Amino acid sequence: MAYYRQVGTVPPKRHTQHRTDEGGLYYEELMGEEGFSSDSSLLYHRGLPSAIVDSQVWELPDQTTTPNHPLKPRHLKLHELFPKEVWAETDVVTGRRLILGNGDVRISYVVSTQDSPLYRNAVGDEIVYIESGQATVETVFGTLEAKPGDYVIIPTSTTHRWLPHGEGPLRAYAIEANSHVAPPKRYLSRYGQLLEHSPYCERDLHGPTELVHGEGADVEVLVKHRAGGAIVGTRMVYPTHPFDVVGWDGCLYPYTFSIHDYEPITGRVHQPPPAHQVFEGNNFVVCNFVPRKVDYHPLSIPVPYYHSNVDSDEIMFYCGGDYEARKGSGIGQGSISVHPGGYAHGPQPGAYERSIGAEFFDELAVMVDTFRPLELGEGALACEDTGYAWTWAGRGPKP
Ligand SMILES: [Fe+2]
Repeated sequence: MAYYRQVGTVPPKRHTQHRTDEGGLYYEELMGEEGFSSDSSLLYHRGLPSAIVDSQVWELPDQTTTPNHPLKPRHLKLHELFPKEVWAETDVVTGRRLILGNGDVRISYVVSTQDSPLYRNAVGDEIVYIESGQATVETVFGTLEAKPGDYVIIPTSTTHRWLPHGEGPLRAYAIEANSHVAPPKRYLSRYGQLLEHSPYCERDLHGPTELVHGEGADVEVLVKHRAGGAIVGTRMVYPTHPFDVVGWDGCLYPYTFSIHDYEPITGRVHQPPPAHQVFEGNNFVVCNFVPRKVDYHPLSIPVPYYHSNVDSDEIMFYCGGDYEARKGSGIGQGSISVHPGGYAHGPQPGAYERSIGAEFFDELAVMVDTFRPLELGEGALACEDTGYAWTWAGRGPKP
C-alpha cells in the first residue's frame, strides 16, 4: 500500500520531538511490515503504546478444521448459521464462525448488530467483505465507514473495533490471511502506483480521515496471534485507551474499497478469473465478479468453460445479483461453492447452452482461490447442502 497519507499532527521531521500543548512529549510508534524493510507508518500516542497491566488467555471460537475427504464439491448456505435471534448477542470479532481454512488463510462469516470489543489480528491482514449492513470501524489510524460491497482491509496488528449501525444486521465475510494482502503486483508500477490497466486506482481506496479518541482506564484488547504452531487468543489490558493517537503518517493503514468501483475487464471470448483479481496474499488470491457486459464474439459462450485449475481450491461467495452458471443448483444469496483441486467444475446442466446470446450478467461474487487445500471449519459442517455434488449428474450414488 505505497500510497502516502497523513491524518492529525506529526512533527516536520520523523523521529524528532512532538510535544503536547503542555510541553510533554507524544510517544512515536513505528508500525512496519517485514522488519523495517517494507511499508510502514509512524503514529504519535499520548500514552505509552507498550504499557500493559494484564495478559490472559482469550479462548477463540472453534477453530478446528476437517479435511475435504472424500473429495467433493460443496455448497454451504451461510445465512443458515445466524438466525435473527442471535444477531443482538453476536459481534463481528468474537462471533465469527470458521467456514474454511488452511495454513495460509481462514474464511469466516458473521451476522451482527452488537458492538465488538477492541481487537487486533497479529497473524496477518484481514479483508472483511460487507455483504450487507453498515458499520463504523474505529481504528488507531482513525475511523472508516463500511457499507454493502466494501472490502475493509485491516493491516496486521491494527487495533480496531466494529460498530454496526443502520437498518438490518451487518453481514461480514472475513478473509484472514497469514500474510499481508495487496493489489496484484502486475497492476503496480515498480514504485507501487496502480497502473493504467488496473481495474481500480488510488481514488477508489478510502483511508481514515478523522482520528478517534477513546476514554477510560484498564481497557481490554483481544489479540489473535500464533503460539505453539496454532492460532490462539490473548486478552491484553492497557492502563489507558489505545485510541490515543494525535497524528500519523505513512503508507501503512486500513482502508476500504468498494466492489462497485471495480471496473470489469471484458473480452470477445471468456476472460479467465485472473482478469477479475482484486487482491493477493501469500498462496491465495481474491477475485470478484461484478455486473458486466459479457463476451461479444459472435460465437461466444458467455458462461465459463469447464475447468480444472489443478493447483487451486476455488471458493465462491455469492453476494448479489443472479449467478448465471449456477442456476438450478440451489445456490443463492449467501451461498458458498467449494470447487477443490482434483475435480473439474463448470456451469450447471443447461447453463452452457442458455448463456449463448446473453449480453449482460448481473452477478456479484467474491472468489478466493488458494494454492493449498482448504479444510472445512465447524461453520461449513453446520450449513452444508449435501446434495450439491450430484447436481451435474442429476443423481447421487445408487442405493
Ligand atoms: Fe471456477
